[in-house]
Amino acid sequence: MQPPACRVRRLASPALLALLACSAAFASMSEDVKKEVKDLKKSGISRKNGIDLKEIVFVIQSQSNSFHAKKAEQLKKIILKEAANLTQELPTVLLLHELAQQEGAWTILPLLPHFSGTYSRNSSWIFFCEEETRIEIPKLLETLRRYDPSKEWFLGKALHDEESSVIHHYAFSENPTVFKYPDFAAGWALSIPLVNKLNKRLKSEPLKSDFTIDLQHEIALYIWDKGGGPPLTSVPEFCTDRVDSHCATQFRSFLPLCGQPVKKEDIFVAVKTCKQFHGERIPIIKLTWEGQASLIEYYSDYAESSIPTVDLGIPNTERGHCGKTFAILERFLNHNRDKIPWLLIVDDDTLISISRLRHLLSCYDSSKPIVLGERYGYGLGTDGYSYVTGGGGMVFSREAIRRLLASKCRCHSIDSPDDMVLGMCFSGLGIPMIHSPLFHQARPTDYSKDLLSHQVPISFHKYWNIDPVKVYFTWLAPSEEEKSHTKDTKCF
Ligand SMILES: *[C@@H]1O[C@H](CO)[C@@H](O)[C@H](O)[C@H]1NC(C)=O
Ligand SMILES: *[C@@H]1O[C@H](CO)[C@@H](O)[C@H](O)[C@H]1NC(C)=O
Repeated sequence: MQPPACRVRRLASPALLALLACSAAFASMSEDVKKEVKDLKKSGISRKNGIDLKEIVFVIQSQSNSFHAKKAEQLKKIILKEAANLTQELPTVLLLHELAQQEGAWTILPLLPHFSGTYSRNSSWIFFCEEETRIEIPKLLETLRRYDPSKEWFLGKALHDEESSVIHHYAFSENPTVFKYPDFAAGWALSIPLVNKLNKRLKSEPLKSDFTIDLQHEIALYIWDKGGGPPLTSVPEFCTDRVDSHCATQFRSFLPLCGQPVKKEDIFVAVKTCKQFHGERIPIIKLTWEGQASLIEYYSDYAESSIPTVDLGIPNTERGHCGKTFAILERFLNHNRDKIPWLLIVDDDTLISISRLRHLLSCYDSSKPIVLGERYGYGLGTDGYSYVTGGGGMVFSREAIRRLLASKCRCHSIDSPDDMVLGMCFSGLGIPMIHSPLFHQARPTDYSKDLLSHQVPISFHKYWNIDPVKVYFTWLAPSEEEKSHTKDTKCF
């Protein structure tokens, strides 16, 4: 015979509960049952899928850089504090960057064996979120209890493409809106049965050694498995705005600022161009963001004094630019006046907000080796590397460049892809790529509107089929608010 408390937990239906609650007033119920009923009334939460908080494993998608690690630690503390207010048995809260040293840990799939092996016996859900996601623990619990944890579930706030997108390899080009993928900022969850199934699949068929470009989309594709696995179930309580009271999660969207913005003179901007584009692309830079940069040079295969451009003596290459980029790095380290702490390298068709970059960079220590931008991966399923993709802008601290050039790591040929070679070199040096989703390798139209609506973007890339000047003034130009803010800080 099981003790009554256990039976109640299994059988609990509203009618039974009412019965128990009534009879409790009169009769000889065991203390256990009384307590159970009291707890239920207190929580006011349906226990249909009676999971407890301790059955949720929280995974914060953290990064090892100290600024990001600190934010993740803060979130962990908030979660545990709120949990302690609710129950004595605290959930597990994990920081992704502490879980595994492997380069590809941020792509999550390589960690599924760990999750399956460690938590499948005592947990029901793995809940993932970003360092700026905020969670209302009681509401999250209430939300997850709607889903039977013995089934396979992939839960999140659904994003979809409006047009087929290069960053998703033009998937579902006939109707890109049909495929739903999660907005990580709102938090997302996998039930343990699904984690176990994915783990089994990983064992029999290793991850493809390919590019990682938009992880949110790629994870959804992997789980969906061309119809073999569940699609994303859209959960309205997973939110990125803060308006609705029904939300279990929110995302704090803002541009980080730690103290004062970095000074204009502390960022050297290098634009990679070539003779072919002097007339077509450079006028757009001059019309848009050039005025925000205090130190800027255009590096080309041809010196043109009206711009002016600097001829680096490296022949132009159709693609790759590795030779050109290393020449820029050496020139910055060895010939550029004084000790400018930061170098930004962009393409001649990158649109960027230097004023927002100055805000963001205030959160990083330029005496440390810092490489920052939009992080992509190559071959991370096996033993590949991460890199900061060039078109969205690559930011380096002087120290990162010093360590790189002190190593023997160089281009295979002048037309190797510069960003990938840099990623491989930094990976060999143990210098992690720092990801900021505010840098973009593609055009605004290539991203989901919902995703962009909670970002303060720093860059976009490519002029193809858009009016780049208009895109700049719509998405990146300092707003009146930002302008006055800059004025304010000058007055202090
Ligand atoms: C579940 O098991 C893992 C591995 O033994 C342990 O680290 C974790 O704390 C356990 N979780 C709970 C809620 O007991
Ligand atoms: C703890 O719970 C009470 C009410 O249940 C609430 O007013 C309070 O804000 C909570 N504190 C924290 C730290 O969540």
